[in-house]
Amino acid sequence: MPIVVVVGGQWGDEGKGRIVDLLARKARVVARYSAGNNAGHTIVNERGEFKLHLVPAGIFYPEKTCVIGNGVAVDPEVLLGEIDALESRGIDTSRLILSDRAQVIMPWHKRLDQLDEEMRGDAAIGTTGKGVGPCFIDKVARRGIRVGDLLQADDLTGCITTTLAYHNRVITGVYGGAPITFEECFDVYRNYGIRLRSHVGDVQAVVLDAHRRGEYVLLEGAQGSLLDLDHGTYPYVTSSVPSSSSSGAALGVGIGPTDIQRVVGVFKSYSTRVGNGPFPTELHDETADAIRDHGKENGRGEYGTTTGRPRRIGWLDAVAAKYSVRMNGLSALALTRLDVLDNLPSIKICTAYELDGQIIETLPSRESVLNRITPIYEELPGWQSPTTDVRNFDDLPVQAQAFIRRVETLLGCPVDLISVGPEREQAIIVNPIF
Ligand code: IMP
Ligand code: MG
Repeated sequence: MPIVVVVGGQWGDEGKGRIVDLLARKARVVARYSAGNNAGHTIVNERGEFKLHLVPAGIFYPEKTCVIGNGVAVDPEVLLGEIDALESRGIDTSRLILSDRAQVIMPWHKRLDQLDEEMRGDAAIGTTGKGVGPCFIDKVARRGIRVGDLLQADDLTGCITTTLAYHNRVITGVYGGAPITFEECFDVYRNYGIRLRSHVGDVQAVVLDAHRRGEYVLLEGAQGSLLDLDHGTYPYVTSSVPSSSSSGAALGVGIGPTDIQRVVGVFKSYSTRVGNGPFPTELHDETADAIRDHGKENGRGEYGTTTGRPRRIGWLDAVAAKYSVRMNGLSALALTRLDVLDNLPSIKICTAYELDGQIIETLPSRESVLNRITPIYEELPGWQSPTTDVRNFDDLPVQAQAFIRRVETLLGCPVDLISVGPEREQAIIVNPIF
């Protein structure tokens, strides 16, 4: 049975959570494989609205095993907060398994995230400030603290002592910040270890055993491919591998790339970005405001789940999207928030860029070049009627059908799923993904 990966195709916030929530119905295991609590999913189901940052969206189905893989940076305070919040609303979290190899976000990571952004000044990345970047830096520098280290008091003492000595020199010497004491960290993190112990397990075995038993496994990406450390709009990217490219997904749970059968890319019907960095199709007009505030009265506008920041808005960028289709080896697209375009008289799609008088159809790698390109648009008529109650492709207004067909042609990939509202049922399944 297939292992299916769901990845964000743009700059994050494409609605992966609701697509995973929908697909999780058939899966046995749902696993997070990258990033940390910089990510945020909003999920609406019969129990109400939930905002998740670490726990996989499959947790709402009682019989699913949910996994946090080795590729995730875990802030134990946030994870335990989510577990408590879910339990207090009657959702059983005993099926949540956390890799002992996952990196832990420590107090100095959060401090460094903030200090480093301040030092960058005008060139700040616009991070979520959750310490995720500095945590991945420690992973690569081979001084990270992992979930397994929290379980043993003497291991933890050793890890904190060495790492903290190094970081305090950086915090005070490089950034002029205040040092962090051993006492501030040890008891708190030791206690996190005690509380998390029952969740710690062998993630790789859980995923592969389910796969070999013939059950469906869903690997849930966080953020978007254009924030990918290798392939995104560097340096305005995140510090992990959100894409399935270079097998980021396989790496993040400890399986081989040949175990993955399908990769579904989630794209909004337009584009958004939070944080700084190039955004070729960005709009600064009333269309952007209309898109951002669509459904705002129901808490559904384009504002960050993690930071509450207003999201930058733009038209769908088919050049960047096609790049994303290729880097992920996508087999299908899920197009979300189609209903947000319901009232617009016309809709644009960027089909190429103009750079120094030349037409280009690829995404340049350098910021200075990305800032010089002008998008070339194709304009399609809007449908100006509600799609929120539509459940079959053929019942969509013809203009909406034409828009979707055009997206498929430009991206060279079929649209298998369309979402027309936040509720689990507000979806059009064109081709079943499982
Ligand atoms: P960091 O991941 O907090 O280091 O932030 C790096 C960049 O990634 C910033 O532009 C953030 O706004 C962006 N980012 C990180 N996580 C998310 C997410 O879940 N959705 C959208 N953008 C994100
Ligand atoms: Mg999000």
